[in-house]
Amino acid sequence: MLCVLVLAAGEPWEAPALADLEAHPGLVVLKRCVDVDDLVASVTSGQADVAVVALDAPGLDPSAVSHLRRHAVRPVAVTGARSDDLDVREHAHRLGVAAVVGGGELASLPEVVASVEEVLDTRPRQPDLEPLPAAPAGPGGRQAGPGGRVVAVWGPAGAPGRTTVATNLAGELARRRVPVVLADLDPYGGAVAQQLGILDEVSGLLSAARLAGAGHLADRFPSTCRGVGEHLAVVTGLPRADRWREVRPAHVEQLLEAARGLGEVVLDTGFSLEEDAADLGGRPARNSLTLGALEQADEVVVVGGAAPVGLTRLARGLVDLRDRVDGTPVRVVVNRMRSSIGWSEKDIAGMVEGFSRVAGLHFLPDDPALVDRSLVAGRPVVDLGESSLARSLAALADAVFPASAEASHGRAHARPTVRRSLRGGRR
Ligand SMILES: Nc1ncnc2c1ncn2[C@@H]1O[C@H](COP(=O)(O)OP(=O)(O)OP(=O)(O)O)[C@@H](O)[C@H]1O
Ligand SMILES: [Mg+2]
Repeated sequence: MLCVLVLAAGEPWEAPALADLEAHPGLVVLKRCVDVDDLVASVTSGQADVAVVALDAPGLDPSAVSHLRRHAVRPVAVTGARSDDLDVREHAHRLGVAAVVGGGELASLPEVVASVEEVLDTRPRQPDLEPLPAAPAGPGGRQAGPGGRVVAVWGPAGAPGRTTVATNLAGELARRRVPVVLADLDPYGGAVAQQLGILDEVSGLLSAARLAGAGHLADRFPSTCRGVGEHLAVVTGLPRADRWREVRPAHVEQLLEAARGLGEVVLDTGFSLEEDAADLGGRPARNSLTLGALEQADEVVVVGGAAPVGLTRLARGLVDLRDRVDGTPVRVVVNRMRSSIGWSEKDIAGMVEGFSRVAGLHFLPDDPALVDRSLVAGRPVVDLGESSLARSLAALADAVFPASAEASHGRAHARPTVRRSLRGGRR
C-alpha cells in the first residue's frame, strides 16, 4: 500500500485526480495539503511514499523537493500543459522532479504514482570507513567476523526495558568514545528515536531496507544512520508498526554486516519469538526481524522485569530462547529491581540459574524519576551524571563490551575512537 500526499494548489485537476487515486488498488490518499509548508510538514511524519504536486504550486522549489527526497517521498508533478513541453521539462528538471503528468494525461496519474521510481537516499555519500580489526570471540561464543560485536537486546512481553537497556548500552559505549551503531529492529514499532530525542526523520531501517533491496547498502550504509554526538550512529526504527512488511530477513543480514564495519553494534528487538508464517505473497514474517537479530548476534542480553509477572515471563523467555540461540552467550538483566517486591538478588539468581546457563546476571535499580528525566531530555541515563542506575548500566557495558571497559579505564585503546562518518551526523 502506497500512501500519497496531494498538493494541488487549487488547480482544477484536483477533484478528478483524487477520485482516480482513491479508486486505484494499492494507493491511499493520506492528505490533501493546503500549501507547500503543509506538504513539507506532512512528509516528516514518515508515513507518505509519494507526493503528487502541482508543478506550479507557489513556493515549490528545489529545496522543498529535496526535503521530500530526504524523507524518501517520491515526487510526481502534475501540470495543465503538455508534459513534453520544453518549459515544463526545464521547470521540472530544475526542481528535481523526474515524473511529470501533463494535461490530457491525467488518467495515467494513478499508474505513474504506483510505479514512480523508488528514490534512494540521495544525501551525499559519506566518507569510506577504515575496516575495524577483528573482534575477539565472546566466552563460548562463535568467532565474530571482522569489525565490532553484535549484541542483541531482547526480552519477553510486558515492556521490561529492552529499549532503555539498548539505548544506554550504546550511549555508554559512545561516552567511552567507542564507535557504536544502535539499530532499532523492533517489528512492533520503533522507540529508540524517541528515547534519544531524534524527531522528524526518515526511518533508518526502512532506508536501509530499500538500499539493501537495490544492492547499495554495503556502500551507503552510513547514509541510513543518524549521528548522535560523535561516536553513536543510530538506525532509527519503524515509523509505524505496520511497516515491518518492508524489511526482509536478507535486509537485516546486510544491515548487520555493514554496521559491524562501523563499530560495535547494539540491537533493540521485539518481544515475540513466534515463527509466524510468511504470507503467500512471499513477504517476510513479522518476527523475522527479532529472530534474525538473535541468530546473528554474538551475544544476547535478555531483559526481564523484577516484579512477579516480569520474572515469570523472563523464566519462560529464557527457555524459549534456548532453542533459538544455541551456543550464543546469553546474559540476563533484571530491570527495575526494588526492595518492595519481596525477594533478594540471591533469590532471583537461584531462579534464573534454574532455567538457563547464563553468561552473567545483572540488576538495574528502579528509578522512575531519573528514567523520566532521560526521556524528557532525549538523552541516555548514562549521560545525565552519577546515579546508581548509571553505574549499573556502566557495569553492564563493561561485561558486554570488555574492550570498552579497558579503554574507559585507560588501560588500552581497543579501537580507533572518532569516525569521520559518525561525525557527519545531523542533529
Ligand atoms: N530502571 C528503570 N527504572 C524506571 N523505569 C524504567 C526503568 N527501565 C525502564 N523503565 C521504564 O519502563 C518503560 C518501558 O521501558 P522500555 O520502553 O525500555 O521497554 P521495552 O521493553 O523496550 O518496551 P516495548 O515492548 O514497548 O518495546 C518505560 O516507560 C521506561 O521509561
Ligand atoms: Mg522497546
